[in-house]
Amino acid sequence: MKRKNGFKNKDILSADQFSRQDLIFLFQKAKLMKKIVRAGKNSKMLQGKIMTALFYEPSSRTFGSFISAMQRLGGGIIPLQGMTYSSVAKGETLEDTIRTFECYSDIIVLRHPEVGSAKKAALASTVPIINAGDGVGEHPTQALLDLFTILGKFKKIDGLKIAFVGDLLNGRTVHSLSKLLAKMGKVEFFFVSPKILRMPEDLKDQLKNRVLITQVEKLDEVIKKVNVLYVTRIQKERFSNLSVYEKIKNFYIVNKKLMEQARKDLILMHPLPRVGEINPDVDNDSRAVYLTEQMSNGLHVRMALLASVLGKIK
Ligand code: ASP
Ligand code: CP
Repeated sequence: MKRKNGFKNKDILSADQFSRQDLIFLFQKAKLMKKIVRAGKNSKMLQGKIMTALFYEPSSRTFGSFISAMQRLGGGIIPLQGMTYSSVAKGETLEDTIRTFECYSDIIVLRHPEVGSAKKAALASTVPIINAGDGVGEHPTQALLDLFTILGKFKKIDGLKIAFVGDLLNGRTVHSLSKLLAKMGKVEFFFVSPKILRMPEDLKDQLKNRVLITQVEKLDEVIKKVNVLYVTRIQKERFSNLSVYEKIKNFYIVNKKLMEQARKDLILMHPLPRVGEINPDVDNDSRAVYLTEQMSNGLHVRMALLASVLGKIK
């Protein structure tokens, strides 16, 4: 069946905005992108288009994969990371910065420390804005690549048991991914976190109408049951009191021994960067996908997304 591109000229701000049809469309295109990349081919699909990557917060994967995605499709880039050398350092507002780069580019990818910043940017912008992480809010493109990775392994979502582990309060990837999964099928969630880092109440309220949720503190209570173990970093930069962070930072450590208790068909995911919560002795476990499929899918999904938003894919 031929599906419509529901992304054309749209801002990408939240996992809430995607329909099932959108996701099926995007993932079909992401598979094509994967083939292009794997075959070592070049595409000119986005020739003549320019993307600004405006990153006020640190990033390796999101920044790198968006840049790579644009260039692999023949487009141009304005890469700005850290803002030390842009006029933001002179005190320019987000709105004025957005107005500047809309004059020079066709799409702006924004990472910013404030919740709601992507929406604010979208209101100021005539070109599409992609939210690459707005503080403790959302990270919708990460959720897209995570869902693509999960579907790549299990082919369907219905019936999956998924554990989200770590900093569920401040982790924007888990906010977006839980919304997306809840929309896509009948899943069961296990929220595993220290008490002070539980999923935000409003998000739990939104999810609990669709999904069975169990909230626990100990990972060994759920490790045997789940199909997906999605581990996250305790988000140090969100703590106002660093001594609280220091006490809690090693709350979960997934290692070889723990993995012995997990299902054979489990996948172990992490949006990365990790800072100790997954021991490197697990990296070669065939169930670990964070350094392989999950990360490379980021490129394929973002290629498909850029081409779709810029209207160069039907
Ligand atoms: N890279 C992800 C993010 O920016 C996860 C993390 O930083 O822990 O949200
Ligand atoms: N997963 C993710 O967003 O990684 P970066 O922070 O390195 O972009």
